[in-house]
Amino acid sequence: MRETLEKIKKEALEALSSPSAQLEELRIRFLGKKGELTAVLRGMGKLAPEERREIGELANSVRQQIEQRIEMLSEQQKAAKLDAKLAEEKLDVTVPGVGVKTGRFHPLALVQRQLEDIFLGMGYSIVDGPEVEYDYYNFQALNIPKDHPARDTQDTFYITENILLRSQTSPVQARVMEKTTPPIKIISPGRVYRSDAVDATHSPLFHQLEGLVIDRGITMGDLKGTLEMFAKRMFGEQTRIRFRPHHFPFTEPSAEVDVSCFVCGGTGCRLCKGEGWIEILGAGMVHPNVLRNCGIDPEEYSGFAFGLGIERIALLKYHIDDMRLLYENDIRFLNQF
Ligand code: PHE
Repeated sequence: MRETLEKIKKEALEALSSPSAQLEELRIRFLGKKGELTAVLRGMGKLAPEERREIGELANSVRQQIEQRIEMLSEQQKAAKLDAKLAEEKLDVTVPGVGVKTGRFHPLALVQRQLEDIFLGMGYSIVDGPEVEYDYYNFQALNIPKDHPARDTQDTFYITENILLRSQTSPVQARVMEKTTPPIKIISPGRVYRSDAVDATHSPLFHQLEGLVIDRGITMGDLKGTLEMFAKRMFGEQTRIRFRPHHFPFTEPSAEVDVSCFVCGGTGCRLCKGEGWIEILGAGMVHPNVLRNCGIDPEEYSGFAFGLGIERIALLKYHIDDMRLLYENDIRFLNQF
């Protein structure tokens, strides 16, 4: 029996000498219920008492040595595993980071935001209107009956005979007036459509910003003051404005409004084509027929409206010479803003 125990001890410690020993397997083999050492202990009943004590002590000492050895190896293996994991997941905080790519605003969005800021600062609210619009709001309510020649310059895309893609943001005027009791003081930016072929200055889709003010006693002086303030905020303090007589069916009187060239200050240059002035918007006093169409009494209320092209302002402001650049979404172009 002694020899058997010595043999078990030798074999066990030999098997446990390798740092990568399969500990659980060896534990079962030597110490498990059906293990080799247990088998020896089971047979101890047959021994004489004094022998039993001696063998018992030896067996216990062998068990303890094997257990200790397993315990020690197990600790070592755990530590080695942790070291390997740490080495594998090692993070070098001195390596330069990967930059986070942030988006940026499109030049049209930048201009629209700036316009909105300026008018919000003057007490206007922003309203939205549908791009798919009734003929009624786009034309008829605005004093442009069917077959009126003014429709020619605003040919658009028809969905049915009475539903179209709006050719201007002016229908928002009618929609707001219909459901608001003055005072009214709104701007409305958005997309508009016309059946124009694409070239450096035309696109079938573009953007406008409409303005509308209705109250008692609003005069053309208010319109001029408002647009002058706007021009100075948008193009610089030294900017002057100029009204040229024009015709829009929904305003009377109507004007096209120019700003003094913000590059040359008015002496003439390439940007203003030697004119000293740059046209930026259409405006006028809201026509009494339009007020009446929208349920507002022209004897009690008056107001002004204006509409400007956002592309046009963006092209001028950023000195872009081809409108198509705004829609191609070439990253090399867009990254410059
Ligand atoms: N809607 C006109 C256009 O598209 C611009 C405009 C708006 C003119 C408001 C007068 C008043 O040309």
